[in-house]
Amino acid sequence: MTTRRHFLSLVASAAAWRALDAGAQERFSPFVGSNPDNVRRMVEIAALRAGDNVIDLGSGDGRIVFAALQSRPDVRGVGVDINADLVHRANAAAQQRGLADRARFLHQNAFDADLAKVDVIFMWLFPELMRLLRPKILAQARPGTRVVAATWDLGTWPADAVDDPGGGASPIRRWVVPARIEGGWQWDATIGANTYRFSALFEQRMQHAEGVVRVGNRREILQHVVLRGDALQFALRMTLPGAGYIGMSCAGRVRGDSIEGTLVAQVPRPGDDEAMDEVSVPWRARRVANPGYFSPTGTDLG
Ligand SMILES: C[S@@+](CC[C@H](N)C(=O)[O-])C[C@H]1O[C@@H](n2cnc3c(N)ncnc32)[C@H](O)[C@@H]1O
Repeated sequence: MTTRRHFLSLVASAAAWRALDAGAQERFSPFVGSNPDNVRRMVEIAALRAGDNVIDLGSGDGRIVFAALQSRPDVRGVGVDINADLVHRANAAAQQRGLADRARFLHQNAFDADLAKVDVIFMWLFPELMRLLRPKILAQARPGTRVVAATWDLGTWPADAVDDPGGGASPIRRWVVPARIEGGWQWDATIGANTYRFSALFEQRMQHAEGVVRVGNRREILQHVVLRGDALQFALRMTLPGAGYIGMSCAGRVRGDSIEGTLVAQVPRPGDDEAMDEVSVPWRARRVANPGYFSPTGTDLG
Protein backbone atom coordinates (compact mmCIF):
# COMPACT_ATOMS: atom_id res chain seq x y z
CA MET A 1 0.00 0.00 0.00
CA THR A 2 1.42 3.45 -0.84
CA THR A 3 2.01 5.73 2.12
CA ARG A 4 -0.69 8.04 0.79
CA ARG A 5 -3.27 5.24 0.62
CA HIS A 6 -2.10 4.04 4.00
CA PHE A 7 -2.62 7.52 5.44
CA LEU A 8 -6.02 7.85 3.72
CA SER A 9 -7.14 4.58 5.28
CA LEU A 10 -5.91 5.88 8.63
CA VAL A 11 -7.96 9.05 8.08
CA ALA A 12 -11.06 6.90 7.56
CA SER A 13 -10.42 4.68 10.58
CA ALA A 14 -9.48 7.64 12.78
CA ALA A 15 -12.74 9.37 11.83
CA ALA A 16 -14.66 6.30 12.97
CA TRP A 17 -12.57 6.11 16.14
CA ARG A 18 -13.14 9.79 16.91
CA ALA A 19 -16.88 9.37 16.46
CA LEU A 20 -16.74 6.88 19.36
CA ASP A 21 -14.31 8.90 21.43
CA ALA A 22 -15.90 12.33 21.35
CA GLY A 23 -14.16 13.21 24.63
CA ALA A 24 -10.61 13.05 23.22
CA GLN A 25 -8.74 16.13 24.31
CA GLU A 26 -6.69 16.85 21.21
CA ARG A 27 -6.69 15.95 17.52
CA PHE A 28 -3.90 13.64 16.63
CA SER A 29 -2.34 12.17 13.46
CA PRO A 30 -0.35 8.94 13.81
CA PHE A 31 3.13 8.66 12.32
CA VAL A 32 3.30 7.76 8.64
CA GLY A 33 6.49 8.95 6.96
CA SER A 34 6.14 10.99 3.76
CA ASN A 35 7.37 9.09 0.73
CA PRO A 36 10.66 10.31 -0.82
CA ASP A 37 8.88 11.91 -3.79
CA ASN A 38 6.61 13.97 -1.52
CA VAL A 39 9.55 15.00 0.64
CA ARG A 40 11.48 16.13 -2.44
CA ARG A 41 8.52 18.04 -3.88
CA MET A 42 7.67 19.68 -0.54
CA VAL A 43 11.22 20.97 -0.20
CA GLU A 44 11.23 22.07 -3.84
CA ILE A 45 7.97 24.06 -3.66
CA ALA A 46 9.17 25.72 -0.43
CA ALA A 47 11.77 27.57 -2.59
CA LEU A 48 14.20 27.81 0.33
CA ARG A 49 16.38 30.92 0.57
CA ALA A 50 19.61 31.72 2.34
CA GLY A 51 19.15 31.79 6.11
CA ASP A 52 15.62 30.38 6.13
CA ASN A 53 14.29 28.81 9.33
CA VAL A 54 11.92 25.94 8.68
CA ILE A 55 9.58 24.03 10.98
CA ASP A 56 7.76 20.74 10.48
CA LEU A 57 4.57 20.53 12.53
CA GLY A 58 4.39 16.84 13.34
CA SER A 59 7.93 16.02 12.28
CA GLY A 60 7.88 12.24 12.81
CA ASP A 61 11.37 10.84 12.20
CA GLY A 62 12.58 14.23 10.94
CA ARG A 63 12.81 13.39 7.25
CA ILE A 64 11.34 16.68 5.95
CA VAL A 65 13.59 18.80 8.16
CA PHE A 66 16.63 16.74 7.12
CA ALA A 67 15.77 17.03 3.41
CA ALA A 68 15.36 20.82 3.74
CA LEU A 69 18.72 21.17 5.52
CA GLN A 70 20.46 18.89 3.04
CA SER A 71 19.14 20.94 0.11
CA ARG A 72 20.89 24.07 1.45
CA PRO A 73 23.72 24.40 3.94
CA ASP A 74 22.43 27.79 5.16
CA VAL A 75 18.98 26.60 6.33
CA ARG A 76 18.09 25.73 9.93
CA GLY A 77 15.20 23.59 11.06
CA VAL A 78 12.98 22.65 13.96
CA GLY A 79 10.63 19.72 14.15
CA VAL A 80 7.90 19.39 16.76
CA ASP A 81 6.09 16.17 17.48
CA ILE A 82 3.67 14.97 20.11
CA ASN A 83 5.38 11.57 20.21
CA ALA A 84 8.41 11.72 22.54
CA ASP A 85 9.95 8.56 21.08
CA LEU A 86 9.93 10.02 17.55
CA VAL A 87 11.47 13.24 18.87
CA HIS A 88 14.24 11.25 20.56
CA ARG A 89 14.88 9.29 17.35
CA ALA A 90 14.92 12.41 15.20
CA ASN A 91 17.46 14.14 17.50
CA ALA A 92 19.65 11.01 17.41
CA ALA A 93 19.40 10.93 13.61
CA ALA A 94 20.40 14.62 13.49
CA GLN A 95 23.56 13.72 15.43
CA GLN A 96 24.32 10.81 13.12
CA ARG A 97 23.84 12.92 10.00
CA GLY A 98 26.02 15.72 11.36
CA LEU A 99 23.07 18.11 11.33
CA ALA A 100 22.64 18.59 15.08
CA ASP A 101 23.99 22.16 14.90
CA ARG A 102 21.16 23.11 12.50
CA ALA A 103 18.30 20.77 13.42
CA ARG A 104 16.37 20.53 16.69
CA PHE A 105 13.42 18.33 17.50
CA LEU A 106 11.08 19.29 20.31
CA HIS A 107 8.51 17.25 22.16
CA GLN A 108 5.66 19.66 21.69
CA ASN A 109 2.07 19.91 20.53
CA ALA A 110 1.93 21.63 17.13
CA PHE A 111 -0.60 24.09 18.63
CA ASP A 112 2.10 25.28 21.07
CA ALA A 113 4.87 25.67 18.46
CA ASP A 114 6.57 29.04 18.10
CA LEU A 115 5.83 30.23 14.56
CA ALA A 116 6.94 33.83 15.03
CA LYS A 117 10.42 33.47 13.56
CA VAL A 118 10.02 30.78 10.91
CA ASP A 119 10.13 31.32 7.16
CA VAL A 120 8.64 27.97 6.09
CA ILE A 121 6.08 25.74 7.81
CA PHE A 122 5.81 22.14 6.60
CA MET A 123 2.82 19.96 7.52
CA TRP A 124 1.51 16.56 6.65
CA LEU A 125 -1.17 15.84 9.20
CA PHE A 126 -4.79 14.77 9.15
CA PRO A 127 -6.80 17.26 7.09
CA GLU A 128 -8.81 18.57 10.01
CA LEU A 129 -5.70 18.95 12.14
CA MET A 130 -4.10 21.09 9.42
CA ARG A 131 -7.35 23.08 9.14
CA LEU A 132 -7.43 23.58 12.91
CA LEU A 133 -3.85 24.91 12.75
CA ARG A 134 -4.79 27.46 10.06
CA PRO A 135 -5.87 30.26 12.44
CA LYS A 136 -2.70 29.79 14.48
CA ILE A 137 -0.60 30.10 11.35
CA LEU A 138 -2.48 33.17 10.12
CA ALA A 139 -2.29 34.84 13.54
CA GLN A 140 1.27 33.96 14.59
CA ALA A 141 3.41 33.43 11.49
CA ARG A 142 4.97 36.53 9.96
CA PRO A 143 3.52 37.82 6.68
CA GLY A 144 5.48 36.19 3.87
CA THR A 145 5.94 32.87 5.70
CA ARG A 146 5.47 29.99 3.23
CA VAL A 147 3.26 27.13 4.32
CA VAL A 148 3.78 23.81 2.52
CA ALA A 149 1.40 20.89 2.94
CA ALA A 150 0.96 17.59 1.17
CA THR A 151 -2.27 15.92 0.06
CA TRP A 152 -4.88 18.16 1.70
CA ASP A 153 -5.78 21.79 1.42
CA LEU A 154 -6.42 24.35 4.14
CA GLY A 155 -10.15 24.80 3.65
CA THR A 156 -11.11 27.95 1.80
CA TRP A 157 -7.63 29.50 1.93
CA PRO A 158 -6.60 29.22 -1.75
CA ALA A 159 -3.07 27.95 -2.32
CA ASP A 160 -0.64 30.29 -4.08
CA ALA A 161 1.10 27.40 -5.86
CA VAL A 162 0.12 23.77 -6.46
CA ASP A 163 2.29 20.90 -7.69
CA ASP A 164 -0.21 18.26 -8.80
CA PRO A 165 1.42 15.81 -11.21
CA GLY A 166 -1.63 13.45 -11.13
CA GLY A 167 -1.24 9.70 -11.58
CA GLY A 168 -1.93 9.03 -7.91
CA ALA A 169 0.78 11.37 -6.61
CA SER A 170 -0.19 13.69 -3.77
CA PRO A 171 -0.77 17.33 -4.61
CA ILE A 172 1.70 19.56 -2.80
CA ARG A 173 0.50 23.08 -2.04
CA ARG A 174 2.17 26.30 -0.97
CA TRP A 175 0.50 29.26 0.70
CA VAL A 176 2.03 32.61 1.61
CA VAL A 177 0.82 34.11 4.90
CA PRO A 178 -0.71 37.49 4.02
CA ALA A 179 -0.27 40.66 6.05
CA ARG A 180 -3.45 41.74 7.79
CA ILE A 181 -4.67 44.92 6.17
CA GLU A 182 -8.41 44.74 6.82
CA GLY A 183 -9.75 48.07 8.12
CA GLY A 184 -8.89 51.74 7.94
CA TRP A 185 -5.69 53.37 6.68
CA GLN A 186 -4.67 56.94 6.10
CA TRP A 187 -1.84 58.63 4.23
CA ASP A 188 -0.92 62.11 3.08
CA ALA A 189 0.74 62.68 -0.27
CA THR A 190 2.00 65.86 -1.88
CA ILE A 191 1.19 65.84 -5.58
CA GLY A 192 1.99 69.02 -7.45
CA ALA A 193 1.34 72.05 -5.26
CA ASN A 194 -1.07 70.34 -2.87
CA THR A 195 -1.01 67.80 -0.08
CA TYR A 196 -3.93 65.38 -0.06
CA ARG A 197 -5.22 63.16 2.73
CA PHE A 198 -6.25 59.71 1.53
CA SER A 199 -8.62 57.73 3.77
CA ALA A 200 -8.77 54.12 2.67
CA LEU A 201 -10.70 51.09 3.78
CA PHE A 202 -9.59 47.54 2.98
CA GLU A 203 -11.64 44.38 3.07
CA GLN A 204 -9.67 41.14 3.16
CA ARG A 205 -10.23 37.43 2.89
CA MET A 206 -6.90 35.59 3.19
CA GLN A 207 -4.64 36.92 0.39
CA HIS A 208 -7.54 38.56 -1.48
CA ALA A 209 -7.98 42.22 -0.65
CA GLU A 210 -10.18 44.98 -2.03
CA GLY A 211 -10.21 48.61 -1.12
CA VAL A 212 -11.89 51.97 -1.46
CA VAL A 213 -10.49 55.40 -0.76
CA ARG A 214 -11.73 58.90 -0.07
CA VAL A 215 -10.07 62.26 -0.68
CA GLY A 216 -12.22 65.19 0.43
CA ASN A 217 -15.72 64.19 -0.59
CA ARG A 218 -14.69 61.98 -3.50
CA ARG A 219 -14.60 58.23 -3.17
CA GLU A 220 -12.95 55.78 -5.53
CA ILE A 221 -12.36 52.06 -5.81
CA LEU A 222 -8.77 50.82 -5.61
CA GLN A 223 -7.87 48.81 -8.72
CA HIS A 224 -5.69 45.71 -9.12
CA VAL A 225 -5.10 45.26 -5.40
CA VAL A 226 -2.38 42.63 -4.94
CA LEU A 227 -1.36 41.43 -1.48
CA ARG A 228 1.43 38.88 -1.34
CA GLY A 229 2.94 38.33 2.08
CA ASP A 230 3.78 41.82 3.32
CA ALA A 231 3.89 43.34 -0.18
CA LEU A 232 0.84 45.42 -1.10
CA GLN A 233 0.18 47.27 -4.34
CA PHE A 234 -2.78 48.83 -6.13
CA ALA A 235 -3.68 51.44 -8.72
CA LEU A 236 -6.07 54.36 -8.41
CA ARG A 237 -7.56 56.98 -10.71
CA MET A 238 -9.37 59.91 -9.22
CA THR A 239 -9.87 63.63 -9.40
CA LEU A 240 -7.78 65.50 -6.88
CA PRO A 241 -8.96 69.06 -6.31
CA GLY A 242 -6.47 71.42 -7.93
CA ALA A 243 -4.54 68.66 -9.73
CA GLY A 244 -7.14 67.11 -12.05
CA TYR A 245 -7.89 63.51 -12.91
CA ILE A 246 -4.77 61.70 -11.75
CA GLY A 247 -3.62 58.12 -12.20
CA MET A 248 -1.65 56.75 -9.27
CA SER A 249 -0.09 53.51 -8.14
CA CYS A 250 1.05 52.61 -4.65
CA ALA A 251 3.45 49.82 -3.73
CA GLY A 252 4.89 49.13 -0.30
CA ARG A 253 5.53 46.76 2.56
CA VAL A 254 3.08 46.30 5.41
CA ARG A 255 4.88 46.55 8.74
CA GLY A 256 2.25 46.03 11.43
CA ASP A 257 0.34 49.28 11.64
CA SER A 258 2.23 51.11 8.90
CA ILE A 259 2.98 50.70 5.21
CA GLU A 260 6.16 52.10 3.70
CA GLY A 261 6.65 52.39 -0.01
CA THR A 262 6.29 54.62 -3.03
CA LEU A 263 3.36 56.42 -4.62
CA VAL A 264 3.77 57.15 -8.30
CA ALA A 265 1.40 59.71 -9.86
CA GLN A 266 0.90 60.67 -13.51
CA VAL A 267 0.36 64.43 -13.49
CA PRO A 268 -0.32 66.74 -16.43
CA ARG A 269 2.76 68.74 -17.41
CA PRO A 270 2.16 72.43 -16.65
CA GLY A 271 1.47 74.34 -19.86
CA ASP A 272 1.18 71.21 -21.99
CA ASP A 273 -2.23 69.50 -21.94
CA GLU A 274 -0.98 66.51 -23.93
CA ALA A 275 2.08 65.54 -21.87
CA MET A 276 2.20 63.77 -18.51
CA ASP A 277 4.97 63.70 -15.94
CA GLU A 278 5.60 60.89 -13.50
CA VAL A 279 5.96 62.06 -9.93
CA SER A 280 7.26 59.65 -7.32
CA VAL A 281 6.76 60.41 -3.63
CA PRO A 282 7.16 58.34 -0.44
CA TRP A 283 4.03 56.43 0.50
CA ARG A 284 3.62 56.17 4.26
CA ALA A 285 0.27 54.85 5.38
CA ARG A 286 -0.82 54.30 8.98
CA ARG A 287 -3.56 52.11 10.34
CA VAL A 288 -6.36 54.13 11.89
CA ALA A 289 -9.48 53.16 13.81
CA ASN A 290 -11.61 55.69 11.97
CA PRO A 291 -10.18 56.45 8.53
CA GLY A 292 -12.66 59.22 7.76
CA TYR A 293 -14.20 57.18 4.96
CA PHE A 294 -17.48 57.13 6.88
CA SER A 295 -17.46 60.79 7.94
CA PRO A 296 -20.57 62.64 6.79
CA THR A 297 -20.26 63.64 3.16
CA GLY A 298 -22.87 66.39 2.96
CA THR A 299 -24.79 67.20 -0.17
CA ASP A 300 -22.39 69.74 -1.69
CA LEU A 301 -20.31 67.50 -3.95
CA GLY A 302 -18.80 70.33 -6.02
C1 LIG B 1 1.67 11.76 9.08
S1 LIG B 1 2.98 11.94 10.20
C2 LIG B 1 4.06 13.01 9.30
C3 LIG B 1 5.50 12.90 9.73
C4 LIG B 1 6.47 13.75 8.89
N1 LIG B 1 6.09 15.16 8.90
C5 LIG B 1 6.53 13.26 7.46
O1 LIG B 1 5.88 13.88 6.61
O2 LIG B 1 7.19 12.24 7.23
C6 LIG B 1 2.25 12.99 11.43
C7 LIG B 1 3.11 13.24 12.64
O3 LIG B 1 2.48 14.24 13.42
C8 LIG B 1 2.61 13.91 14.79
N2 LIG B 1 1.48 14.61 15.46
C9 LIG B 1 0.18 14.28 15.44
N3 LIG B 1 -0.56 15.19 16.09
C10 LIG B 1 0.30 16.12 16.55
C11 LIG B 1 0.17 17.31 17.30
N4 LIG B 1 -1.03 17.74 17.73
N5 LIG B 1 1.27 18.02 17.58
C12 LIG B 1 2.50 17.60 17.16
N6 LIG B 1 2.69 16.47 16.45
C13 LIG B 1 1.61 15.75 16.14
C14 LIG B 1 2.57 12.40 14.85
O4 LIG B 1 3.19 11.91 16.02
C15 LIG B 1 3.31 12.05 13.55
O5 LIG B 1 4.67 11.88 13.79
